[in-house]
Order: sequence, then C-alpha cells, then structure tokens
Amino acid sequence: MCGIIGATSSRGVGKILVNGLKKMEYRGYDSAGLVLNQDEAVFQLRTLGKVSNLEELMTKERPKANSGIAHTRWATHGVPSETNAHPHGSNGNIYIVHNGIIENHDELRERLVNEGYEIQSQTDSELIAHLIHFNKEKGKTTLDALIETTKELDGAYSIAVIDTEEKGKIFAAKQKSPLLVGKGIEENFIASDPLAIAGLAESFYLLEDGDFAEITKDEIKIVGSNGEALSREETIIDTSVKEASKDGYKHFMEKEIYEQPQAITNAIEGRTADGEVLDNIFGLGSSEAFKGVKRIQFVACGTSLHAAKTARKWFEELCETPCYIDFASEYRYRNPLVEDDTLFVCISQSGETADTMAALNYAKDEKYLGIVTICNVPTSTMARESDWKIFTNAGPEIGVASTKAFTTQLAALLLLACSISKSKNLNKDKRADAINDLLNTPSLVKESFGLKRHIDEIVEKIADKKNALYLGRGVYFSIAQEGALKFKEITYIHAEAYPAGELKHGPLALVDEMTPVVALAPEDELVEKLLSNLEEVKSRGGTLYIFGNATSKIKIEKGKFMNMPKCGYYNAPIVYTIPLQILAYEVACSIGTDLDQPRNLAKSVTVE
Ligand code: G6P
Repeated sequence: MCGIIGATSSRGVGKILVNGLKKMEYRGYDSAGLVLNQDEAVFQLRTLGKVSNLEELMTKERPKANSGIAHTRWATHGVPSETNAHPHGSNGNIYIVHNGIIENHDELRERLVNEGYEIQSQTDSELIAHLIHFNKEKGKTTLDALIETTKELDGAYSIAVIDTEEKGKIFAAKQKSPLLVGKGIEENFIASDPLAIAGLAESFYLLEDGDFAEITKDEIKIVGSNGEALSREETIIDTSVKEASKDGYKHFMEKEIYEQPQAITNAIEGRTADGEVLDNIFGLGSSEAFKGVKRIQFVACGTSLHAAKTARKWFEELCETPCYIDFASEYRYRNPLVEDDTLFVCISQSGETADTMAALNYAKDEKYLGIVTICNVPTSTMARESDWKIFTNAGPEIGVASTKAFTTQLAALLLLACSISKSKNLNKDKRADAINDLLNTPSLVKESFGLKRHIDEIVEKIADKKNALYLGRGVYFSIAQEGALKFKEITYIHAEAYPAGELKHGPLALVDEMTPVVALAPEDELVEKLLSNLEEVKSRGGTLYIFGNATSKIKIEKGKFMNMPKCGYYNAPIVYTIPLQILAYEVACSIGTDLDQPRNLAKSVTVE
C-alpha cells in the first residue's frame, strides 16, 4: 500500500505534492517520488527513504510545474529502491502512481516484454504505465486507454496518470483502494486521503470502485467503464484536525500513550447517562436491531484483532452471546457458515485496512443481521459501508505502533456489549458495573503512568536480549499478545505471548537467564494458577517482570514485581495495557530504533 496524490493548478504544485505526501507517510515510507509536468516538459524525481529526502532534493532543484502526481511507497513487489519507487513511466510521456496490488503481474509482464517494452523495475505498478501506452498507441484517448488497461488488471488499485501530451490533465482510476477527488479554486486534486489536501480542497468527490476521473484545474469529469458520465455527490469533509505535532514529546508514540486518559474520555463522552448506555449510539435503529443478536462475528487485523479477543468475554457475560473472531485476512477464505441473527463487527483504527474491508464486502452478501464498524476515522470507507458505527474519537494516531487506538477500541467495544445487553434486557447490574468501570478508566490509566519509574529500572536489562515471553491468562493473554506485538514492532526483539498454562507444553524450553518473561497477574480468579505457572519459570532460572497487585503472593529473586493500580473487573484489561506500551516504548528508545516509523511497517495497510 502507498499514498498517492495528484494536483493540477494555475500555480506551481511541487510543494503541494510533497506536503501531501508527508501527511500520508503513515501509508508507507520506504521511498517516494513525483512527476511534474509543464507543457511538454516533464521532471521526475525519486528517492529512497522518507519523503523528507524527496523534499530536500526538491528544494535544491526547485522545479516549476502546474500539474503533477506523487507517491510514498510501502514495497510489495520489488525491494525499496529508487528504480522501484513511483512514478513509473512509459515512453517518456505516460507516468503513473499506483496504490494496490496487481495480481496477474507475471502474465502482464510477459506480454509486455513480448510487445517490446523494456521494463525497468521489479514492480507490478510499472506494467500499468506500459499498458496505458500500449492501449493509447491503438488510437485511444488517454482516458480510454486507462479504462481499457484496467480491464486487464486483476487486483486492487488506485491509479493516477499524467500524459505529457495532455496538458494540465490528471487521469485516475479506483478499484478497492481508496481515492478521492478534491475540488479547489482554480485547482483540483486527487488523493488517497483527504488530509493530504486539507486546506486546499473545498469539497470532495469520493470515488467508487469502477470510477474513472479526468481532471483539469477547472473541470472534474467522473465516468464509468463505458465512458458514461457519472454524478458523484459533492461532500464537505472536515479536515481541520490540528496539525499533528509532538507537543514536546520525543515521539508521536510517546505523546499518544500519555494522551490516553483524554482519548478514552472522548470515546465514552456523551454515550452514557445515569449509569446506563444511551440508546442508538451506534446509529439510528441500532438499539432495536440489537434485540435480535444471537451471535457475533468479529473481524480485524493486528492490534484491532487483539481488541476483539480482549472484548469477547464482555460480550459473553453481558449479552450472553457467543462470539467468533477471525483474522480479517483469513475470514472469507474459510467459507464461514453464517448462522441466523449473527451481527458482523469490523474493528479498524483507519477504517481502510484492505483485509478488513474485503471481509466486510464479503459479509454484505451473507445473511448477517447487520454490519457494525468500530473505527477512528469518520470519513473512512468502512464507516460509509456499514449499517451501524461508532467512532472511537481518539484523534489522529501517527505512531505506527497503535496505542490510544487500542484502548479506545476497547472502550467502544464495552459500549457495544452494554448496548446489546440493554437491547436484550439482560444483566442490568453487571452492565451498571461495566459502565461505572468505564467511567473510572481515564483516571486509572493516568495512575498507571506512575509505573514508568519502575519500568525505567528494567529497560537496560531487557534491551540487550534477543527474545522475550509475555504471559497472561484469560483476557490478559490477549493483553499479553498486544504487549508482545507492541514490543516486537518497535524494538525488533522477538517477543511471543502465551496463555501461561500453555508454557509447559513447549515454550518453557525457551526459558533461560537470557529470556525476560513479562507476566500479567491481576487479582482475579485465575491468579493462583498463574502464580504456579510463574513458579515453573522461576525454577528454570527465568527472569520475571510481573505487573500485578501487591497481594499476589509471589517472591521474585530475579526480576521485578510492579504494583498496578487497583482496577475494576471491566477496566483492568485496559489499564494493564499501559505499562506494556511504556515498556516497549522505553526499550525501543534505549535501543534507538525509528519507533514512530519502524522498519518494514506502515500504519494503514491497504493491500491484501
Ligand atoms: C497495521 C498497523 C497496526 C494496525 C493494523 C490494523 O498493521 O501497523 O497498528 O493494528 O494495521 O489496522 P486498522 O487500521 O484496521 O486498525
């Protein structure tokens, strides 16, 4: 996946494109490039690494042009390199940028080579440029050549095209990857994300799959695959979010960790009153529809999947509803058997993750009771495509390793469990406890920040290790999984989570004095069993770092016990997440990784 942007204007667009790319680096940051076009002249620049490298070169070269396209890349086909960076060209006049994956690239490559095209890169994307050129050579207009080209592409794409023979024009196509057109004053844009053109576009057209666009500075034409004119609603999108700044923190991730009390407050604000969840907080008709929920199917990826796993118990207890949880990337390939009255729930920070979106599209054709999306981005495709939704209101999350998105998702999931429980008229008392716990969460999260000074004492002992184990039981196994994911994402140290009772079935073999074992030991019904599991670690010379309550009766000779705030039953999993985020963050800082943009990753993954 990647971020693409295009601009055509009566003024120079170089700076606009680079600034837009910077706002989309969350979509990938291994290389970047642009093509600018003025009359027949074309200027191409591609650099390895972040957009700042491209920006540096641009300030040296200072090219002037009224139209152009640009790209920030997350490599799928072909290593990150200047040659594989976009835009890709054909014959010196067609240039393209692409977000997505072309699945039939092998076959297309062979065909184009046989047609005499010299393919420069290892990418699937370059083939699109040659195909457009090939189709144009048959006498088609650029737009028709683009339409013809997409008929031969299997997979997902949003594409922007510049043809130096078509002065001031940008062409675009969308299929399963996000793309919108922005309308400005004497200038128009296309972009993967409205934020990339915030402050420039006054209104937007959200393209649908199968749409094509031809834009000049004065005109926006949207057509279908037969060239027929389409009318898409002109919408205003609030892009006025505060420019992301670190506000004195070293990293966005650090800022986002310490913002969590406010973020969680925002996630619950206005959604409960008098110890009860309000009706229809998931949208009109949701409370009525939830009366019929007999089962719930969750799909999500990464951290969002851990939120579903953590929340399962809440749904089983408060709504007496069995839950199924799938990796979004696996869900549709297992031909799921959908039982009557099953609610389908997508969890996604971005609302754009390709696997989750594909699962949602699959679910639409199945007999689900309805589709609920829990997400942080109101303008996202998932939010638009769902029957009901709730926004987590966490504010923009810039750090690739998700922190406040996760804890606010948990808050939203607890609200969903309470809503369904209320609709089904079940467990009023437990629901009141849950809401009370939810309201107390921000202050407990704040209190848990006090653990940092204890964590600081163990950072150096962990930072030089090669592996770590994370243990928990019940929902705390899911929190341990999230902790281990956070840790490996930004420290590059391998970490694995296990339900503590599983240790003896294999992973105990990994335990030695070089393997830190992080354990979550809240005061719950499983704590005694967990402590026995931890004794097994001790007897094998393992070093234990335990987050728990001081009442937990374990004596540690090697390692450290860190005392957690006294939490409620429902908010403890949220609060136990915090020290694991801080631990990952502090260890990564001590190692010195690029922890807001860890290697090989991206924040929003819009390819399968
Ligand atoms: C990427 C991000 C993760 C995120 C996952 C799912 O892998 O790096 O932090 O959890 O995508 O993203 P979503 O936007 O659907 O929650």
